Amino acid sequence: MLTNNEQKMLDGEMGEATQQSMEILFALGKIYNAKKMIPITSAQVSGVSYKTIGDAGIEYLEDLATKKAKVTVPTFLNPAGMDIEQWKKMNVPADFAKKQMQILDAYSKMGIMQSCTCTPYLIGIRPKKGEHIAWAESSAVAFANSVLGARTNREGGPSALASAICGITPCYGLHEDSSRVSSLVINIKCELKTIADFGALGYAIGTIAKNKYPAFKGIKTATEEQLKVLGASMAATGSVPLFFVENITPEWNVVEDAEEIQFDATELKTSKTKLDTKEKPQLVTIGCPHASLEEIRQVAELVTKKKPTCEFWVCTARKTKQEADKFGYTKIIENAGGNVVADTCMVVCPLERMGYDITGTNSGKAAKYLPDLCKQRVAFGDLNDILYR
Ligand code: F3S
Repeated sequence: MLTNNEQKMLDGEMGEATQQSMEILFALGKIYNAKKMIPITSAQVSGVSYKTIGDAGIEYLEDLATKKAKVTVPTFLNPAGMDIEQWKKMNVPADFAKKQMQILDAYSKMGIMQSCTCTPYLIGIRPKKGEHIAWAESSAVAFANSVLGARTNREGGPSALASAICGITPCYGLHEDSSRVSSLVINIKCELKTIADFGALGYAIGTIAKNKYPAFKGIKTATEEQLKVLGASMAATGSVPLFFVENITPEWNVVEDAEEIQFDATELKTSKTKLDTKEKPQLVTIGCPHASLEEIRQVAELVTKKKPTCEFWVCTARKTKQEADKFGYTKIIENAGGNVVADTCMVVCPLERMGYDITGTNSGKAAKYLPDLCKQRVAFGDLNDILYR
C-alpha cells in the first residue's frame, strides 16, 4: 500500500515528527481499508482554540513543534479562541489569551498560515473540482466537497495536521467517486430567502440525514453564503460532509431508489421556532461560518438604515476584515454599536466568561453549539428580527 517514500516516513527516516504523523495516517488507512495514499494540495487544521483543545492539546502541539514538525503543503488554521488584536477590548480573560498565543505559536513554528478562519474558500483558498485535500473544519469540508466539488473526508485536527506534514491522505471515503452518492432526496416545497431559512433547513435535515448525503430538489437559487450556512448546519446536527443541490452544485449523483422526503413552509417555521427562545439577545453574532465581504456589506447597509437595539459582532477572517476596513463597512458597523471580529467566532471564544448569557444568531450551526459549548440561551431568526427585538 505504501510507496518507498511513504515507507521511509513510516520508518522514521524523515524525522520523528514525520514518523509520528505517518503512523496516524497509516492507522487510519488500515481502519478504512484504503488501498493507497494520495497527495493533497492543501490542509486545513482544526483544534486551534484553547477552549476546544485545552492543556493536553498545547502539550501535543508543542511536542510536535519541538520535534521540528513542518508542513509540506499549504496549510491554514481554523478560528482561534480570540481576536488577536482586540481580545482585551472584548473582555477575553488574560489567562485564556496567554494559552491561546502558545497554541498559535506552536502552529506557526510548523509553518502553518495563521488564517484563523473556517471559510478559507472566501479568502482565495478554493480547491478545484476533483482536487484532493485534507480539511478538518466540518463546515469547510461540506462546502469544499459540495459547492467546489473538491474531495476531502471530514478530518480530525490530528489527522489533518498529519496530512499537512506528510503531504498525503489515505484514499477512502469521499476521495473515491463511488462514495459520493446520495440516497436521500429532499423536495423543497417552500421559498428559502434568508440565511436563517437555510440555517433552519440545514438544522432540520442534518438531524434526519444521519449517514446519508442529502440531495436537494426545488431550490431555485442559492448564494454561496446561503450554501455555506446550509452545509454548516447539516454538518453540526448530522455530521454531513457532502450534499447536492440540483442544478446548483457541480455534482448530482443520486441512487435510483433513494428515499424521498418533503420540506415545506410549515416545517421551515417549526425548525426556526424550535431554535428560538424568543428572548431579546444581549449580543447578536453574525458570521457562522465566517462572513463574506458581501455579508458584511449587507450588515453595514442594514444598520445604517436602523441602529440595532443590542450589541452585535460580525465574525470573519482577518483578511476579509481588512477589506471591510477599506470599504468603510467596519466603521459603519462600529458606529452602530457593533464590532467586526476576526480570527475567532461566537462558539470557540470563551463567550460564557465574557459576560453574555443570551446570544442571537441566524446560523443553525451556532444555534446548535451555543447552548452546550457556551452556556448561552439562543435567540434565532433573521437579522432584521434578532438585531431589533
Ligand atoms: Fe466557523 Fe465558528 Fe461557526 S468555526 S462554522 S463560525 S462555529
